Amino acid sequence: MTLQFPNGFLWGASTAAHQVEGNNIHSDFWVMENLEGSMFKERSGDAVDHFRLYREDIALMAELGLNAYRFSIEWARIEPEEGVYDESAIEHYRNVLKACNDNNITPIVTLHHFTTPVWAIRLGGWESEEMPARFARYCDKVMSELGEYIPYVCTINEANISIGITKVMKRHQAGGTAQVGINTDMAARMQTYMEEVSKAFGVPPEEVHSFLGLRTEKGLEVIFRAHTEARTIIRQISPNTQIGITMSLYDVQSIPGGEEIAAHALQEELLQFTDYLKDDDFFGLQNYTRSVYGPDGMLPVPDDAEKTQMGNEFYPQGLEAVIRYISKHLDKPIFVTENGVATDNDERRIAFIDRALRGIHACIADGIPVQGYMHWSLLDNFEWQLGFSKRFGLIAVDRATQVRHPKPSANHYGNIASTNVLAD
Ligand code: BGC
Repeated sequence: MTLQFPNGFLWGASTAAHQVEGNNIHSDFWVMENLEGSMFKERSGDAVDHFRLYREDIALMAELGLNAYRFSIEWARIEPEEGVYDESAIEHYRNVLKACNDNNITPIVTLHHFTTPVWAIRLGGWESEEMPARFARYCDKVMSELGEYIPYVCTINEANISIGITKVMKRHQAGGTAQVGINTDMAARMQTYMEEVSKAFGVPPEEVHSFLGLRTEKGLEVIFRAHTEARTIIRQISPNTQIGITMSLYDVQSIPGGEEIAAHALQEELLQFTDYLKDDDFFGLQNYTRSVYGPDGMLPVPDDAEKTQMGNEFYPQGLEAVIRYISKHLDKPIFVTENGVATDNDERRIAFIDRALRGIHACIADGIPVQGYMHWSLLDNFEWQLGFSKRFGLIAVDRATQVRHPKPSANHYGNIASTNVLAD
């Protein structure tokens, strides 16, 4: 039996500027990676040189059979100093968008994917009341210049991600270092590193507010207000662009006694924000695995479970469950804006993709409006603190030569995309 997907379904892959472009020198992450004693395993450096090689990469996607590309525009390149726009960066992204168009690839643009210009961090980052206006002003500039080429825009990537990070950091601050897998040496290194970070940004350690950091309730409100203020402006400037946000969501499950904590996790991660999302045109879902709750909280991944390079459970069936959950709470089209697996065993990537797609197909068959699937990631890339060692890509990259090597999974997924059919 074969599974037929609807005409017009968007089949794509995702990247994020900082993880693939290279030399994102005006961003906070660049500063943090390049500090002495950095907590980053390695520097992003040239990354996979996508800034230079985007044309080839986009043509390769088309050749493989994909028809969509989710990528991010880098705020730190567009506005390297407050209020100063770099026209050559705007021109660069215009060319990226044109390359998509030339290759019949529908672009899905993200305006903020974790990295922030250094100047905005100096001014209080993602805890500053001024941040929504700053972000909206940058979105205004991008959409005024490029909106005509952008059919879909995601304002902020994984707007809810700092909730989990905050929990881990708070446990650490409360002295539970062992509990969060941090030994005393590491804790001391972190302390010194935070002092270096604070010096580099010229603000006290407790006032460094990068996107992937400890977040207060007020900070969460800042992020979601940045989304709604950006949405208002984008809608005025580019009325034909569909606007959404992306959120990171686990397939939340419970064993007996864990139901209440699981319900609380869903409230925290998604439901508390639905008011901010109600005027969006679509929802961008990012899912990688499940999380299971027991009476004492989240359970560890069982020893006998298959694990990914990230230490997550290999659990592609979680995607279907999350889509079904979201569709009960948000009445709008859903794009899977990220889903994937870090592994060197490409056969398992193929199995992951097939299982994820079967789940999407079942949802569509039940009338849930899933309109596209953007696999994470197009290319093996810079996995933030973990460097280049985690391989999520459909395409391998030899970083010494920057030569691209599509993996069997790229061809497998490309065949599904170009035929609209998944063999069951
Ligand atoms: C992020 C990506 C990241 C991926 C895999 C998502 O949380 O949006 O930037 O590389 O997960 O960890």
